[in-house]
Amino acid sequence: MGYRVLVLNGPNLNLLGTREPDVYGTITLDHVENLARMVAAELDMELRFLQSNHEGDLVEIIHKAIGEVDGLVINAGALTHYSVSLRDAISGAGLPTVEVHLSNIHAREAFRHRSVIAAVCVGQICGFGAGSYRLGLQALQAHLDTLSEGEKSRCPS
Ligand code: DQA
Repeated sequence: MGYRVLVLNGPNLNLLGTREPDVYGTITLDHVENLARMVAAELDMELRFLQSNHEGDLVEIIHKAIGEVDGLVINAGALTHYSVSLRDAISGAGLPTVEVHLSNIHAREAFRHRSVIAAVCVGQICGFGAGSYRLGLQALQAHLDTLSEGEKSRCPS
């Protein structure tokens, strides 16, 4: 098995499928999970997939992930735009993290343009619907590969 990855989903993402279908489409979170599991299998990743509507729970899930996973893919939902505690959890955990969104947050209301977690993430992928999760997992894999290459190059041969 390759990398261990946690895909974490924040508030209201459990409502996908019925929530604002004009913005998010009709795909459910179960479908997103199935897609993520398919991609993880292709990439030989071990995947955990969780969702919570509670900021503190998300913070604790990230704390518990330390030492348990190699990286995170996170769709923090609305917390993206204001949760300093989530940002601190990500930077404090030190786990390489890719931020994903279904919608293109930069093409929506002004309050969604700012992500307070972006600066502590490796990068951000948004606007590709459920495909953002596929791209997020691929990006995380590529990033983790560069880290392990770096480690390899530091090893005495
Ligand atoms: C979202 C975008 C956020 O602005 C919003 O609050 C969400 C979903 C997305 O996936 O497009 O809940 O993260």
